[in-house]
Amino acid sequence: MNFVVAIDGPAASGKGTITRKLADELELTVLPTGDTYRCLGLEVLKKGYGIDQVYEITELARQLDIQLRNVNGKELVYLNGEDVSNEIREPAISKLSSLVSSIVKVREQMVLLQRRMAEGKNVIAEGRDMGTVVFPNADVKLYIDANEEVRADRRYKEYLSNGINITYEEVLEQLRWRDENDKNKKVGALKKADDAILIDTTVMTIDEAVEKIKSEIQPKMVKKKSKESKSEYNEDDFDM
Ligand code: DC
Repeated sequence: MNFVVAIDGPAASGKGTITRKLADELELTVLPTGDTYRCLGLEVLKKGYGIDQVYEITELARQLDIQLRNVNGKELVYLNGEDVSNEIREPAISKLSSLVSSIVKVREQMVLLQRRMAEGKNVIAEGRDMGTVVFPNADVKLYIDANEEVRADRRYKEYLSNGINITYEEVLEQLRWRDENDKNKKVGALKKADDAILIDTTVMTIDEAVEKIKSEIQPKMVKKKSKESKSEYNEDDFDM
């Protein structure tokens, strides 16, 4: 079976946490596509490229070597064989990842990479254009949102617990900038797919959201599985 759940939404909407909980409970592979842009942002920073060096950045995107590994229950991101899980969460990389993701040629490469990473797996993919561009035929599409202050507060607490020195006002300002940039891209802009279910985590706890989404996904998984096993059975019949 190749089952795909596509989750989109703005930064700190709760989609990362919700995705991981659902993945655990439904045995799906997590595909955090923001991490692919974050890795590219880190590469650009290390090479010292300016954001206008479109050719060089697109080449980097083409050659990106990313591996997602689960080590002792921790989800780690490896870039060119090196663990970059913490580095890619730095505020400077958040901004750079949004900037590189605005380059149309970069997005073409990233869409190919993300589809390759999902090949042959049952996945839950989260990002900004999962339901609209990368997996337009996903089995379930969700758009997770929350108001600006709630999202800024969540990200601020996350930074503090990771020892990052930043004020709430700075976080709110960065979030506003990123929302604006992510929603106004020429290609792959953040928007709700017409057939996506809207979940607002301003008024719902993460666990409530998980339960609601699970009730949407589970029947579809069961239906797809039984449909596929029936068609396998028919093929065997035909072989005889
Ligand atoms: O989900 P995140 O905050 O880790 O994503 C980092 C940036 O990457 C985000 O500001 C926009 C970009 N991004 C994107 O353009 N498309 C995606 N599918 C995922 C992320």
